This record gives sequence, C-alpha cells and structure tokens, in this order.
Amino acid sequence: MAAGGERAMRASVVSVPLLVLLHLLMICSSSAATGRGAGDAGVEADRIAALPGQPKVPFQQFSGYVTVSTTAGRALFYWLTEAYGNHLSKPLVVWLNGGPGCSSVGYGASEEIGPFRINKTASGLYLNKFSWNTAANLLFLETPAGVGFSYSNLSSDLFDTGDRRTAEDSLEFLVRWLDQFPQYKGREMYLTGESYAGHYVPQLARQILAYNLRSKHPINLKGIMVGNAVTDNYYDNLGTVTYWWSHAMISDRTYRQLINTCDFRQQKESDECESLYSYAMDQEFGNIDQYNIYAPPCNSSDEKWSFASTRQGIRLPHRPHKVNFRQISGYDPCTEKYAEVYYNRPDVQRALHANTTGIPYKWTACSEVLNRNWNDTEVSILPIYREMIAKGLRVWVFSGDVDSVVPVTATRYALAQLKLAIKIPWYPWYVKKQVGGWTEVYQGLTFATVRGAGHEVPLFKPRAALQLFNSFLRGDPLPKS
Ligand SMILES: *[C@@H]1O[C@H](CO)[C@@H](O)[C@H](O)[C@H]1NC(C)=O
Ligand SMILES: *[C@@H]1O[C@H](CO)[C@@H](O)[C@H](O)[C@H]1NC(C)=O
Ligand SMILES: *[C@@H]1O[C@H](CO)[C@@H](O)[C@H](O)[C@H]1NC(C)=O
Ligand SMILES: *[C@@H]1O[C@H](CO)[C@@H](O)[C@H](O)[C@H]1NC(C)=O
Ligand SMILES: *[C@@H]1O[C@H](CO)[C@@H](O)[C@H](O)[C@H]1NC(C)=O
Repeated sequence: MAAGGERAMRASVVSVPLLVLLHLLMICSSSAATGRGAGDAGVEADRIAALPGQPKVPFQQFSGYVTVSTTAGRALFYWLTEAYGNHLSKPLVVWLNGGPGCSSVGYGASEEIGPFRINKTASGLYLNKFSWNTAANLLFLETPAGVGFSYSNLSSDLFDTGDRRTAEDSLEFLVRWLDQFPQYKGREMYLTGESYAGHYVPQLARQILAYNLRSKHPINLKGIMVGNAVTDNYYDNLGTVTYWWSHAMISDRTYRQLINTCDFRQQKESDECESLYSYAMDQEFGNIDQYNIYAPPCNSSDEKWSFASTRQGIRLPHRPHKVNFRQISGYDPCTEKYAEVYYNRPDVQRALHANTTGIPYKWTACSEVLNRNWNDTEVSILPIYREMIAKGLRVWVFSGDVDSVVPVTATRYALAQLKLAIKIPWYPWYVKKQVGGWTEVYQGLTFATVRGAGHEVPLFKPRAALQLFNSFLRGDPLPKS
C-alpha cells in the first residue's frame, strides 16, 4: 500500500516539477522573513470565535469574503475549518457542491463532510465524528456569486452566470485567498465535490493548471475527487434512464420509448421526450426520494419546514420534482431545512462574518434564480479528465449506488469512454469488515462505488466516505479487507 502511495505521489510530482519546488523554497523563506501567518490582522478579522450553539473544538475556523471582481462588486464567501491535530502538516481540501446554485456551506459543511451537524431545532450544532477535517484542512467555498452568502452588487450577474464565470471567479478566489492565508501557499491542495461540481471541480483544476503555467506562484494542486458527478450529457442521460429501468423504477415500455425518442446529446429535449420524462416521474416513480431511492423523503408538508426548498436540484431533463411523503426511520431526510433556519439567524451570520452588506434576499441552500438562468454548460467534461490524467493529477471518481439523479451507471458509461488501462481489476473494498462498495483502479484514475449511499455519499455513509477520503489522500487503493 505504501509503495502504491509513493508511486502515485511521484507520478503527480513529475508534472509540475521545478516550479513547485522553487515555489516551496520561496514560501519557506518568505514566510520566515515576514512572519505572516494566522496571527496577522487580515486573517484575524475572519477568525470565528464560536458559532451559536457550537460545542468546543480544538481546531481553528475562519470565514468571510474574498472579492473576485471589483468592477461588478462580486465577492465569494468561504468557511475554513482547519484540521484536528497538526493542521500545518495536512493538505488543503476545497469542497464544492453543485446545483448549479447550491451551497457548500449548506450541504458539504453542514450535512456531509464538515465537523458540525445542525440539530433538529436549528438551535445548536453537534459534532460529526466522521468529519473530513480529521484528515485535512477543509475550505468550503460558496460559488458562483449568488450562491448562499456569496453575492454580486451587479444584479444582472444572477442571470448570466454559467460554467465559465464560475471557474474564473473560483480561481480568482483561490489566488487571493492564498495571499490572505500565506501559511497555505505551497501546501498540497485537492479539489473535491459532488453532483454538478462534476463540472466545477475539473474546470477549476483546468484553470489552475493554466494559471500555473503563467504564474510565478503556482498552486500546488495534487488531485481531484468527485462523487455522483455530472460528467457527459449523452452518457449521463443514457446511464440515468438505464438505472431507472434496471432498478425497476420505470416500465420496459417507457424505457424503450425514452431510448427511441430522446436525443440525449441535446441540452433541451423535444416536447415528446419531455412528456416521456414527466410520465416516468409522475406515473411510474411514485413519491420516492430520487437522491436515494430506498430512503424516506422529507415530509415537506410539515408546516415548520414548508418554506424551505427541497434537495439540491440539478438542471437536466430529469430534474426532480418536489416530493413530500412519509418519514419511516433511519437517516433524517430534512437536514437541509435545519440549515435554512440556522444560516438565516442574524447571530449566526454575525459569527460567520457573513452578509455584511445586507444581501436583499434570504440565505437558501440552493439558488433557483441561478439554476434557472444558467448561461453556459460544457457538454462533456471527459476532455478535462484526459488533460488532468496526462498532467499526472490524482483523479478519483466515486458514486453512491442508490442515487437515481446522477447514478452509478451514468458515471460508468462516461468513464468507459476514456478507455483507460486497468491497473487493479474490480474488487470489493471494505470498511469495518463490511463491503463498502466496489472499486477498479485504472492507469490515471480510480473509480469506487459506495454501497447503499445516495447522491450525497458522506451524508448517507459517513464512515465509508471518510475511508474513501483517507485512501484518496494517501494515494492508496481502497482496502481489500
Ligand atoms: C457591494 O456594495 C456594498 C454597498 O455599497 C459595498 O459595501 C461592498 O464593498 C460592495 N462589494 C464589493 C465586492 O465590491
Ligand atoms: C440543539 O442545540 C441546542 C444548543 O446546544 C440545545 O439547547 C437543544 O436542546 C438542542 N436540540 C436538540 C433537538 O437536540
Ligand atoms: C407530514 O406533516 C403533516 C403536517 O405536520 C402531518 O399532518 C402528516 O401526518 C405528516 N405525514 C407523515 C407521513 O408523517
Ligand atoms: C442579509 O441580511 C438581511 C438583513 O440585513 C436579510 O434581510 C437577508 O435575508 C440576509 N440575506 C442573506 C443571504 O443572508
Ligand atoms: C454565456 O455563454 C456564452 C456561450 O456559451 C459565452 O460566450 C458567454 O461568455 C457567456 N457569458 C458569460 C457572462 O459568461
């Protein structure tokens, strides 16, 4: 396992050799010379003393805004939760949620990988014992402007943002953020995320690779990991309706009609195809949670939470409808509703240094306006995978296998197009002596499923997700026992 890790490390170092080394040297000497660090005023203003209802923790937290466009007045909001233990020796991991338009504070930080979970009355926080900040410093970024607390003073920005601006602004954010937190300059960095962040993460990686070619201060990007990731319109759509059929959610007839009628390459489907999607969802699915087909949906007719929106939507033909149905047992399907209460509390916003300019609308887990008006989307992200693999980045793709929105079949169809050589053939991987899922290691890319996990893998299978994250950071294949 150690040998595999070293091999992977060496492979990724080769691509960015001298510049990174030089840069590392410069960082060491410059930070020694200026003595800048978490102690200086700029950073100090962003330090979080404690969040309302927060248990005491041994790690430090910072949050606030970084301006990414002075002309438009666009500022992106971040929340850094440093690692437990010796955070200086641990990598920096950026986490992005998708949508487009959904918040990584609301999802990633508060119900998936972050150190805190919000309790049922939204009056306090409790610890997530499988938090990814046990292994890395976590940087949650709300991107693009219009998501969560990130804003633009130019209101038209909400109506013409797409993949392009998201990637450019996110790079601008990282560069300026690293200036503000020089102790992280040169630190190993990984980009992670899920769902529509299947676009954001590789696109930001591509921006960083291009930036590194022209900058004297390259960003030490080591790899990316994405889950249930939107990847390629055609293969995603084909894989999705195939998942619906193979999981007995739709009839043979509807499946055949979808395959014969829809042009899965199109962004906008024909009316005939749309009506088949509607028939499948309205007449055949029933009231299920499409993000985890075996879990109970949140009862949104429950008055207390009725104002809050449903799960992070993704904008493809099969955009899920709002659901309300019975709660059975197991996990709590209403968690993002607690976030919408908590993050709208004025005391919480003060503690986070958020909404300091009086944003003219409420904090929501997802922005419908951004989502509806998304300007541009890349048809396929596969070319970026080829580029990242060629540059020696560590690339991991995982998939919760009971998600029907960006299902495992979609990901497998898409990745198959890369035609990568198999390094370690398909095998079950283990977490606490149980099969956590299945994995196959390719030349340049590791694919892993998470058994029984829905769209938000770390929400449904927190222990397995942390195992996956630790293996990814070490560059080791997932454990065989
Ligand atoms: C947006 O406008 C407010 C109010 O004029 C101002 O305080 C703030 O600095 C502006 N934001 C940016 C990023 O320029
Ligand atoms: C939520 O947290 C607050 C503050 O710690 C506590 O007073 C309250 O009892 C908790 N509620 C639930 C349902 O756990
Ligand atoms: C959903 O919430 C409503 C309103 O609180 C309640 O009347 C109904 O019984 C709930 N349904 C289930 C299945 O729990
Ligand atoms: C920002 O604060 C204002 C009050 O100043 C509030 O009305 C608004 O809902 C808040 N918006 C967000 C996104 O937090
Ligand atoms: C909107 O999309 C078009 C075409 O895809 C692109 O040329 C344009 O730059 C985009 N606009 C913005 C503001 O990103």
